[in-house]
Amino acid sequence: MRLLNRLLMLCMMAALLACGFEFGNQSADDSPVNFAQHIAPIIHQNCMPCHRPGAAGPFPLITYQQVRKKAKTIRKVTQSRYMPPWPADPGYVSFIGEKRLSDRDIRLLSRWVEEGCAPGDTSGLLLPEFLEGSMLGRPDWVIHFREPVPLPGDNKDRFMVVKVPFELPFDTFLRAVEYVPGNRRLVHHTNGHIVHYSKDSKKQPMKGPYYAHRDSFPDMDAAFRSINLLNDDGSYPLLTLSAFNYLPGMSPLTYPDGIGGFKIGRSGAFLLNDQHYGPSVRDTSDYSTLNLFFMDKPPVRPLMETQLGSLGISEIVPRFNIPAGTVRSFHTRAMIRSAISMISVNPHMHLLGTTFKAFAVVPSGDTIPLISIPRWDFRWQYTYVFRKPVIIPAGSVVWAFGTFDNRASNPRNPFSPPRDFNESNSSMKTTDEMFQFIFQYLPYQRGDEHIDLEHHPIAKGVSKTAN
Ligand code: HEC
Repeated sequence: MRLLNRLLMLCMMAALLACGFEFGNQSADDSPVNFAQHIAPIIHQNCMPCHRPGAAGPFPLITYQQVRKKAKTIRKVTQSRYMPPWPADPGYVSFIGEKRLSDRDIRLLSRWVEEGCAPGDTSGLLLPEFLEGSMLGRPDWVIHFREPVPLPGDNKDRFMVVKVPFELPFDTFLRAVEYVPGNRRLVHHTNGHIVHYSKDSKKQPMKGPYYAHRDSFPDMDAAFRSINLLNDDGSYPLLTLSAFNYLPGMSPLTYPDGIGGFKIGRSGAFLLNDQHYGPSVRDTSDYSTLNLFFMDKPPVRPLMETQLGSLGISEIVPRFNIPAGTVRSFHTRAMIRSAISMISVNPHMHLLGTTFKAFAVVPSGDTIPLISIPRWDFRWQYTYVFRKPVIIPAGSVVWAFGTFDNRASNPRNPFSPPRDFNESNSSMKTTDEMFQFIFQYLPYQRGDEHIDLEHHPIAKGVSKTAN
């Protein structure tokens, strides 16, 4: 009898427990969603880096009131994955710093809005910290634009070249260059190179002018001449390409010890070659800053860069012509002669671009995925860094494919009605087209496949930053 009772009790307890578990699970999914507990962590981590005062987003998303005010649009733009912006398909290749909400986050946001945007207890909400001035720590040297770049309030996008010259008492090694926009609201992106002058090649490296409108020149040569960038004899100085990049919300690229880095000589310049300013309705200006992080030793394995397609080492097939009213696809390819460790990729197209894909085919026929962008968006041109170096064996072929839409129905088409685009007018003008696949790499060394590219803080003054 007693035994039976006990058994019964145990059974009931088990049933209750089981029931409790079920109930517990359901409560995680079905209990009301509130801002403080569920929504704030998602917004603060994924949206606030750009949606805060002075940053690129058009409005701040920090407090309950601010988020509530935009709740319906937030629901829409997260469901469509328009925000946060991350054009690369993570199912094809997943990169460092991926800006992407989980399905669960998107569901929670949606439910929160449907249920009426409950605040929850917001009294104890902690906000992530954002360092002013640097995402990396304390820089060794800070240099500014030589003069502010004026931005008239005509509500137009602007593409500029900006030169920031320097003179130093001795040769120096740089671990990283961090671009810090002066006008965070308008600076959309930049692609930065280092210009090296030799002792006698340029008598007055510090002389201006310091900026020019890229689109007012027929080609880049003319734009570069206009800012007095070339050597005195008219030849090109040595350039280190893509030493730094900037896009809102992205941390600057830094690599593990022994990888990357640059030497800069006593005289040179930083060249912001693709300085894109968004439209402004007020007259304003930008006075940006470069933070330099030194290293003691010369770079051991400096990154190398190769460019396929427009202005690059490989031909575009078929000929790069996009007649008005058509959709056209192109490819370009290059053979890899000795094994490389690919570190990062940077697809580049302009306003007509719609899809981009790149992969490598190894000699045995296997495919190594590199990047896929199913819906190209001109505004979000990240340099995508692999989580670990991708090894491309000798004899592989790197392929890149791009599709362009030159019909009137493409809302990004810069011309209405559409105009024929011909290879001959391929330039860096935004309204002209480009098809480029740029990648950074190292000659392969054994063990490269195990390098974790993600963890490489520059610990100087600040150990960890929330960015
Ligand atoms: C990398 C920077 C960045 C991140 C991260 C980001 N945004 Fe944005 N957001 C922008 C910029 C820039 C715009 C204005 C341009 C545009 O509308 O495309 C914008 C526009 C918006 C808009 C207005 C869209 C419209 O159609 O009016 C909403 C709503 C929005 N963001 C919500 C979010 C939410 C929610 C998140 C996080 C889940 C987020 N954003 C993350 C930069 C960012």
